[in-house]
Amino acid sequence: MCGIIGYIGKRNAVPVLLYGLQRLEYRGYDSAGVAVIDKTGNRIIVEKQVGKIKDLQEHLWGKKIEGHLGVGHSRWATHGEPTVENAHPHTSQKGTISIVHNGIIENYLQLKQELIQKGYKFRSDTDTEVIAHLFEELYTGDLLDTAFKVAKKLEGAYAVGVISTYQPDRIVAIKKGSPLIIGIGKDENFIASDIPAVLEYTKEFITLEDGEIALITRDKVEIYTKDGKRIDKKPFRVSWDVSVAEKAGYKHFMQKEIHEQPRTVADTITGFSSSKDEKLFEMLKDTDRLYIIACGTSYHAALVGKFWIEKFAKIPVEVDYASEFRYRDRIIDDKTAVLGISQSGETADTRFALLDAKEEGAKTIGLVNVVGSSLSREADYVLYTYCGPEIGVAATKTFTAQLVALLLLALETGIKKGTTTYTDYEKIHEELLHLPSKIEQLLQKDEEIKEIAYRYMNASDFLFLGRNINYPIALEGALKLKEISYIHAEGYPAGEMKHGPIALIDEKMPVVCVIPQDRNYEKMLSNLQEVKARKGKVISVATEGDRQIKELSDEVIYIPKTSDYLYPALTVVPLQMLSYHIATLLGKDVDQPRNLAKTVTVE
Ligand code: F6R
Repeated sequence: MCGIIGYIGKRNAVPVLLYGLQRLEYRGYDSAGVAVIDKTGNRIIVEKQVGKIKDLQEHLWGKKIEGHLGVGHSRWATHGEPTVENAHPHTSQKGTISIVHNGIIENYLQLKQELIQKGYKFRSDTDTEVIAHLFEELYTGDLLDTAFKVAKKLEGAYAVGVISTYQPDRIVAIKKGSPLIIGIGKDENFIASDIPAVLEYTKEFITLEDGEIALITRDKVEIYTKDGKRIDKKPFRVSWDVSVAEKAGYKHFMQKEIHEQPRTVADTITGFSSSKDEKLFEMLKDTDRLYIIACGTSYHAALVGKFWIEKFAKIPVEVDYASEFRYRDRIIDDKTAVLGISQSGETADTRFALLDAKEEGAKTIGLVNVVGSSLSREADYVLYTYCGPEIGVAATKTFTAQLVALLLLALETGIKKGTTTYTDYEKIHEELLHLPSKIEQLLQKDEEIKEIAYRYMNASDFLFLGRNINYPIALEGALKLKEISYIHAEGYPAGEMKHGPIALIDEKMPVVCVIPQDRNYEKMLSNLQEVKARKGKVISVATEGDRQIKELSDEVIYIPKTSDYLYPALTVVPLQMLSYHIATLLGKDVDQPRNLAKTVTVE
């Protein structure tokens, strides 16, 4: 995980690095640091701090560090605790080379032993420190030349930025497995793990591919293959600007992103229609088996997608956690397709599972939010959600957009295959177009939901129940609550409750029942009554106009009426709001919950 940034140019490097690190904090936030080559070019100044970027900022207050070339890092610990010693940048023994790294060096123990035998002393427990010493050990008189040699020695995943007093006019970057972009400015250039880190300064970018090595000076960027062949890469331009990544008056990014859903849902409907890849539908027409793989919230979207794809496209679907799919004996032949869903497009579990399946002959599809992300480049076909950057660690707007994209994929394939009628297609499509305004109505219930949150915020456990297409929403509601409020929560298919979890229910247990008036309503109602009979506190998410639910529940959050198939995109919204309010009332850091990172680029 972790976020890296590098700067060379006319500005003082420290503020640029700190600004970028703040925007990369979602990738990890247990310690941070910067390394800058001072004005003389003879000394690297390294400053690190445990905690968030604001702690590093405080640590740097009053320190005059002048230099126009530097690298920075925001860490999410994998090897070694969050301490100053383990924080990046790591510097070679002679203090001449500093590096920042995102990824995991799998053969670091072997490299460490070799370097120790050569007299290198290690100051940290990280896998990264070997890279700094390797650069020193293999230094040829040229940093770029050395980078080719170092890259050959490293196994695992890495995006690395290197600076050195030997050549204080350049950054060298190497990349394999972890994301790295280069921002192209005027008299200045940047490297970073992600575009928002440097969007304040430039809109022109190059994405580095696996195995590529870059030489970046103040006025040029050169890219090489791992064999040293120079390649010409055209920069691309991004159209969104930095305000999209700011809070725009909301207290938290999560709150802003929940409230952006009417727009992101509408944009995803439009985006899907205007970028249809007919070859994808041709391929799906001929597909016998579809695996959908994902992690976390994206996995819950996959579970909903299965219902739609089986219903409208009549393709048998298996949904799997990417981390499980990768290591099991799955059945893949030339009529198998694998769809990887990932907001970031960088989640290691999903990417590598998809790549493995591709190697075995599966056709691969990526559904991602981040344009240009690794998964979008690695899959044979790509679909996008059109949400702009999602900064809050808890996924919200990308979940509803993933649902929309999956529903449209199912309907469109159904039409092409002849397994869906035009009448059904149009009916659901029409309802879909009303979704943004229905979400808007739901967002008006903010105060009402906050009051419910206030009444239940001190519960130590929550149960979330749903049936059929709304069962994954129960899972998602529980995930949202536990990840940002640290309250234990479980999601269950309501029909399963009587087979075990019912034992948990007593007067202290809030049970959130996702119970829209769809074809499962009656069955869900029986489950709700079973909860009530055991004195559980029932919080229902029900359809507007459902009067009887009021008598059976302690709390009801009404949602607008829609088609049975569309309810998940509505029922999830109050659950996001409920979690948000419980967590903020408890004083938790909802945008950066403990132990989590937005993008998990380690297995
Ligand atoms: C939960 C959450 C995570 C992610 C998961 C996958 O709110 O954000 O569970 O959904 O880490 O991330 P992506 O979709 O980027 O692959």
